[in-house]
Amino acid sequence: MNIQKNVSTQVQSDSRPIGVFDSGIGGLTVLKEIWKALPNESTIYFGDNGRTPYGTKSHETIVTYSLQNMQFLLSQDVKMIVIACNSASAHAYKAVRAKAKVPVVEVITPGAAQAVEATRTGRIGIIATRATVNSGIYKAAVENEAGIRLKAGLNREALEQLYIEQAACPLFVSLAEEGWWDTEITKLAAEEYLKQLKKNHIDTLILGCTHYPLLMKTIAEVMGPDTALINAGASVAREVENVLARNQLMNRSGDVPQHIFYTSDDPQMFENLATPFLGGGRPSGTKRAMTDEYSGEEIWL
Ligand code: DGL
Repeated sequence: MNIQKNVSTQVQSDSRPIGVFDSGIGGLTVLKEIWKALPNESTIYFGDNGRTPYGTKSHETIVTYSLQNMQFLLSQDVKMIVIACNSASAHAYKAVRAKAKVPVVEVITPGAAQAVEATRTGRIGIIATRATVNSGIYKAAVENEAGIRLKAGLNREALEQLYIEQAACPLFVSLAEEGWWDTEITKLAAEEYLKQLKKNHIDTLILGCTHYPLLMKTIAEVMGPDTALINAGASVAREVENVLARNQLMNRSGDVPQHIFYTSDDPQMFENLATPFLGGGRPSGTKRAMTDEYSGEEIWL
């Protein structure tokens, strides 16, 4: 009798890495949170710096690139894929989920949930790439999350007057990739992009692109202290943890985790950009991977 009990409660362990991809360095803002929340997990990060930005590209191109990135990560034997890019999450999540055969986590739902919890007035702004804004998926996710909370009687006063405003800030991606996180040019761009949101008294602003947390200081300065900035990284990491636990995929081996980086552009350039941001020393041994060699099967879900 005891044997049966032991078998059914046996805790499983899976030491394969978590695969994370983005169009460039933006996904590092998510990776950093995954490392913090899940210190025993190994990771493989792919930054598609050679083909960045995604946010100015068509639905079809973003789906193709994302499926190729997925195939590359699967070839590295990952146990899960995190689409650490809002543009790819907005356009390619369904396609990647349909093809991956491992659990897939996107970054939009956690950000939307965090925003509807944080808002005091129901006035929520979303800044993102043009591709994400035009998809309307972030806005729909915020409405959906607000609906769930309203039904449960949560944050009623604010959510009954829900007002959502979106703004595309395409230059922010290039500024982040350039390492210009806190410069005069970035400030000028932010003032221009955020003008309307400020005027409309947005109290909660979703950084709906994983590159934007790199510009957090400038964005906060421009929006002022009354606006809460939502960086979904930490809630994405929590979602990764939940999905690993639900699927019995946690690494409980006690082995030292490995963190491997790939980029489709120059590895040195990638490491130069990643170093100050990751804060835990320079990532070393970054390799080049050209994911366009992988199949991006044509399914436009
Ligand atoms: N960091 C990505 C996002 O979250 C993509 C930015 C881009 O490549 O345009 O949208």
